[in-house]
Amino acid sequence: MTRPHVLLSVAVSIDGYIDDASPDRLLLSNAADFDRVDALRAESDAVLIGAQTLRRDNPRLLVNSAERRLHRIAAGRPEYPVRVIVTATGDLDPRLNFWRFGGERLVYTTDSGLHRIGDTLHGRAEVVSLGGTVDFPSLLDDLGKRGLERLMVEGGGSIHTAFLAAGLVDEIRMAVAPLVVGDPAAPRFLGPADFPGGPHHRMQLADVSRIGDIALLRYLPKEDSDVG
Ligand SMILES: NC(=O)c1ccc[n+]([C@@H]2O[C@H](COP(=O)([O-])OP(=O)(O)OC[C@H]3O[C@@H](n4cnc5c(N)ncnc54)[C@H](OP(=O)(O)O)[C@@H]3O)[C@@H](O)[C@H]2O)c1
Repeated sequence: MTRPHVLLSVAVSIDGYIDDASPDRLLLSNAADFDRVDALRAESDAVLIGAQTLRRDNPRLLVNSAERRLHRIAAGRPEYPVRVIVTATGDLDPRLNFWRFGGERLVYTTDSGLHRIGDTLHGRAEVVSLGGTVDFPSLLDDLGKRGLERLMVEGGGSIHTAFLAAGLVDEIRMAVAPLVVGDPAAPRFLGPADFPGGPHHRMQLADVSRIGDIALLRYLPKEDSDVG
């Protein structure tokens, strides 16, 4: 069985934060960079976020460009990528935007999360329990069984940390915004974990580009750096 290619997408401040601690979402990208992220979604078969990002940001997680959606349809693909939520607790509010717009949705959870969700997402999402915990390799196996070849993981920090620590990330697209958050209460791109290879493993830096005031970095975590 083939697991999907996993692309981890993130926007960070210069000091490594992905948001501030205020109730409103901190916009790190500029307009052109948000459009780049929209194009990446349009290229993906599935887009995944953690339940905390869903609760906090109330995103729709759609492809915004009508042209890109038409292009998908013309290629025989669904208008939108499958949108995926990961939750252990099953604490999901069915009134959020996410459940109101767009196409197919999948929720990966635990046995207890499945119990808590019950019928609340009936007609809105397929809910899959992966047992006592959400096992990310099993999640990828399940996406692969569904024929999904490209997964975009959009965060937040717990989810990025879990995927990277499990050695499941094929590439990272990191947009660095020219601002500093400086608040230890704000969420970071990655939390502490036992990452593959430890601190001595140098990932391959595959590309660096500029999008206005954003620096876009592309890393291949499974490849060693070719710099001696
Ligand atoms: N700048 C960016 O690119 C970017 C992108 C996305 C999000 N963000 C920001 O990231 C912040 C949220 O990040 P976060 O780390 O707090 O939350 P998160 O990663 O979005 O979601 C964490 C939740 O995901 C579920 N989860 C995580 N690991 C799991 C596991 N191993 N098994 C089962 N469920 C698991 C749990 O849901 P339950 O609690 O329901 O069990 C957990 O509370 C927000 O401030 C958001 O704005 C920034």
